[in-house]
Amino acid sequence: MTDGLDGVIAAETRLSMVDGVGGRLVIRGHDVESLVDGPRFETVLALLWDGLLPELPSTDDLGRALGAARETVFDRLAARLALVSDLSPMDALRALIAQLPDGDDLDTALQLVAAPAVLTSALARVCSGEAPIAPEPDREHAADMLAMLGRPADEDRTRALAAYMAVVSDHGLNASTFAARVVASTRAGLTSAVTAGLGALKGPLHGGAPGPVIDMLDAIGTADRAEAWLEAALDRGERLMGFGHRIYRVRDPRADALKRVISERLGTASGHRIELARAVETAALGALQRRKPDRPLDVNVEFYTALLLEGLGFASEDFTCVFAAGRIAGWIAHAVEQVAGGRLIRPQSHYIGPMPSRAA
Ligand code: ACO
Repeated sequence: MTDGLDGVIAAETRLSMVDGVGGRLVIRGHDVESLVDGPRFETVLALLWDGLLPELPSTDDLGRALGAARETVFDRLAARLALVSDLSPMDALRALIAQLPDGDDLDTALQLVAAPAVLTSALARVCSGEAPIAPEPDREHAADMLAMLGRPADEDRTRALAAYMAVVSDHGLNASTFAARVVASTRAGLTSAVTAGLGALKGPLHGGAPGPVIDMLDAIGTADRAEAWLEAALDRGERLMGFGHRIYRVRDPRADALKRVISERLGTASGHRIELARAVETAALGALQRRKPDRPLDVNVEFYTALLLEGLGFASEDFTCVFAAGRIAGWIAHAVEQVAGGRLIRPQSHYIGPMPSRAA
């Protein structure tokens, strides 16, 4: 038996390749670094869904259809925001998305992609006592997400958010994508598959890490306190959020891609935070190396995700929802790929409990 399915190959995919030794991520033939230099999220969507969803329009038409889907989701779900406003943002997002029709067509897929963009911003505003802002279907998806939050949607900030969503759009058979593929393999609809992905993504060992990264930076406060704070956390047996990865034995290439986006697009706005983060990163890598010399533990995507999303004005409790807004493109592609070519996913367990005693 393999603990945590470590090293088990459970699917064949044309969507992305994660090379944990070489530190490389390829998404449909493109190195992840090439996806941060400008493409709209709509382009990444077209790339991931090409050949999988029938009647997929050209990127421009897909952008228009996604804009219309944002309107549909807002019209359908805005009235229900107050009903879930006492839940955590991820629980609220999951509860609202679960109410979308459970189809398997392009319309369903587009509403599902639209939903976290519309709902993350709307929920954040409702929870702080402000009215939600309706989407504008003609806007680029990333720009509209910022605008719906009530934040500036200038070119640099739009490019930064689009780059982030591209970077996290797919990543092999990570826990949430596997969850989505398992559900899809039963032939349940895309909404069911995505809802499973959301559940898995929420956990702090997966997509829930970047919020705690901000908590860690806040608690450390200044660079000179980093080493002592991190050593004390490790002494308490805590894991350092934003470090370590199941697959990568070197730096997560997404971390450096995002680090570049932050300095090129948000540079001066995030200057002080970046300096602190660099000091914390250096101290953490040293502490982890000293404590676990045999287990390479390097920085992962969540560390710089935290800085980028904070720089864009998202609250730390909403970071995982923004992650979902990008990863949902991959969940849907994997779900469709699984249905098209895969069997029901049904592994076995090894029973180690007691057996009934046999009558003599
Ligand atoms: N801080 C301190 N110690 C760590 C860390 C960490 N971040 N990561 C792993 N370790 C330690 C473990 O405690 C374990 O020690 P032990 O052998 O003494 O028990 C050893 O390194 C090996 O770790 P595993 O449990 O085998 O690592 P696994 O592959 O199961 O976990 C994971 C990977 C969950 C990402 C882990 O590194 C971790 O918890 N990191 C912090 C949370 C985080 O940043 N999550 C985001 C990941 S990226 C993403 O999902 C998008």
